[in-house]
Order: sequence, then C-alpha cells, then structure tokens
Amino acid sequence: MDRFTELDKEAIKKVLDIKHYDPDSFDPDLLDELEDNPEYKDMLKRYGKDLLEDERFAVLKTFIQHGNVTVYEHCIHVALCAIRINKWLGVKCRPRDLIRGALLHDYFLYDWHKGDDPKNIHPKLHGFYHPGIALRNASNDFNLSEREKDIIKKHMWPLTVFPPRCREAWVVCMADKYASTLETLKLKKGKIAENYA
Ligand SMILES: [Fe+2]
Ligand SMILES: [Fe+2]
Repeated sequence: MDRFTELDKEAIKKVLDIKHYDPDSFDPDLLDELEDNPEYKDMLKRYGKDLLEDERFAVLKTFIQHGNVTVYEHCIHVALCAIRINKWLGVKCRPRDLIRGALLHDYFLYDWHKGDDPKNIHPKLHGFYHPGIALRNASNDFNLSEREKDIIKKHMWPLTVFPPRCREAWVVCMADKYASTLETLKLKKGKIAENYA
C-alpha cells in the first residue's frame, strides 16, 4: 500500500474539516459542473461503464440518499468528486479502483430512511453498519480489487474505527463527505426539490 507524505496528510486534514466551511462560499452548482465535465464523464465511462449499465447497479436508482437525490446519483457524484480531489491533491490514485470503489461505496441496497425495511437491520445505526453491508453485497455481485474493498469498507471513517489503508480509499472518504455536503447545500438552497419526507 502507498505511504502518505506530510503534505498529503495536511491536505487531507484540510478537506475533512468540512464543518468550518462557509456554506455561501461552497457552491453546490459545482455538482452540475462536474457532471458536465467531458473529461470526467469520459473517465466514468472508461472505468465504470459495465457497472453503470448493470441492472443490479441500476437498483440504486430506486433508493433515496438525500432530498430527491437517489443513491445512484449520489454514487456518481462521489465518483466525480473523487476524480476532482485526486487531481487537486495530485496523489495519483489508480483511476479504475478509485472510480469503481466510489460507484460501489453505498451499495447497501435498502432504503435507509425506512426503519421497517427488512434489509435495514440496524435502522438507527445505518452510518456504522452500511459500509460492511455494501461490501458484502458488492462482493457477491462484482469482482472487487483489494483497493475497491478498502474504499467501500472505510468510506465512513472516522465513524468506522480503522482508517483507510490506501490513497484511493482516503480520496473516496473525502469525496463522499464533499459530495454529501454539496447535495445537502443544494437541497437547502432550493436547487434540488425536496420530495422525500
Ligand atoms: Fe455511505
Ligand atoms: Fe455515500
């Protein structure tokens, strides 16, 4: 596994410190820009085409993450943010692992808002348990590399005790928080219509 330099660690600390961001200087329209970026789109297709076209992966379209953002869209947002953060930090992640791990990081396959969904076995502790559930589901349905497994298992760090072991997992851990913040802000600013109570 790769080693981190002090510079990497500093940059990571800065990105993880989301609570100190000023929401007005944190532009949720960035999500649209990322979605329209031809270079990023190309990378998504090159490394994730089979997943994006797989009917088992498409089931994520039926689950809501926040507001009216589906888990499917959220996973794409995380992959796009991961590409961007990787570029920005210049940490040279392996693009295939980075993108596929990001796409599968929330492959837990239940509605986490519904406590009575039989697959939602820990409704109050979804945050703690869903990375393990996502990893089990993704391992059953797809062939995963060790890095992809680490990405899925550790993406909720520091909620999960053990930190990521590779830079791809660090980047997706940051990208998940970054994308979720953008989605939530976009929702708050009325740019995503709330259709889920
Ligand atoms: Fe997650
Ligand atoms: Fe996520």
